[in-house]
Amino acid sequence: MPANRRTILVTGGLGYIGSHTCVVLAEAGYRPVIVDNLANAKASVLPRIRELAKPDIAFPKADVRDRTAMEKILASPRPTSRSTRPMCATARR
Ligand SMILES: NC(=O)c1ccc[n+]([C@@H]2O[C@H](COP(=O)([O-])OP(=O)(O)OC[C@H]3O[C@@H](n4cnc5c(N)ncnc54)[C@H](O)[C@@H]3O)[C@@H](O)[C@H]2O)c1
Repeated sequence: MPANRRTILVTGGLGYIGSHTCVVLAEAGYRPVIVDNLANAKASVLPRIRELAKPDIAFPKADVRDRTAMEKILASPRPTSRSTRPMCATARR
């Protein structure tokens, strides 16, 4: 696993497509940050994703329509990441 993994934002990351996407992204060397408002998912999915993808997955619960919350998430640097601004991968329909 590369030490300088890039952070990638996965919206809807606790859903069906998003959760599988997170596992594959983690396997490919990315550090997924999941944003999900739990409208159609349960937080209990997170431990299973972490188990499959290694535990290094952040989950700031938020609604992607909440501009203030999204700006805060996007502005947050990850302590051990070289990238301070996450890339975006939309996992919603
Ligand atoms: N084969 C299977 O077992 C299976 C199981 C489930 C779904 N599916 C299929 O997968 C497709 C659906 O998957 P999907 O991943 O697109 O949908 P999904 O509903 O599983 O995932 C969407 C995620 O987005 C989140 N979300 C919704 N609005 C949000 C918002 N405003 N802000 C933040 N998060 C938000 C939801 O909480 C959810 O976790 C459908 O075609 C369905 O038939 C297949």
